[in-house]
Amino acid sequence: MAPVIEKNPTVAKVNASPTGMWIMAGIISLVILAVALFSFMNFDPYVNQVLALKGDADRGRAIFQANCVVCHGIQADGYIGPSLWGVSQRRSQSHIIHQVVSGQTPPMPQFEPNPQEMADLLDYLKTL
Ligand code: HEC
Repeated sequence: MAPVIEKNPTVAKVNASPTGMWIMAGIISLVILAVALFSFMNFDPYVNQVLALKGDADRGRAIFQANCVVCHGIQADGYIGPSLWGVSQRRSQSHIIHQVVSGQTPPMPQFEPNPQEMADLLDYLKTL
């Protein structure tokens, strides 16, 4: 005879004591707070890496001429893309980095400069 398989096994009861709920709520709010704090601090390892490096404006100019002049003009005074004169005064460094690597403002493509190249570009843009 085949063994009888129980049809309705008792479901283990989850311990939902009020104290446990409060502890869970506390942990969840701490996690939310930590996430909010990190995004507020703009915690981005790439940006931090770039900002820690010393850029070279001459190398930056060469990178700019190879990648950016088609749109921003040979003098960076604007063509398809806007003029970049004084952009370092208008925009924060992390904003400019984001602009170059994010690809979020078509038709400007998403570039993938390594941190040193990005630091060089930033230094060149400061000369404009
Ligand atoms: C295919 C054309 C194109 C190329 C190539 C291009 N850009 Fe752009 N760029 C644009 C356009 C268009 C905008 C305006 C985007 C917007 O705000 O909607 C822009 C905006 C920017 C801005 C923001 C300007 C501001 O006033 O906020 C920066 C900085 C910038 N580009 C830097 C670069 C750099 C550095 C390169 C080369 C690595 C580059 N771009 C290559 C088209 C281009």
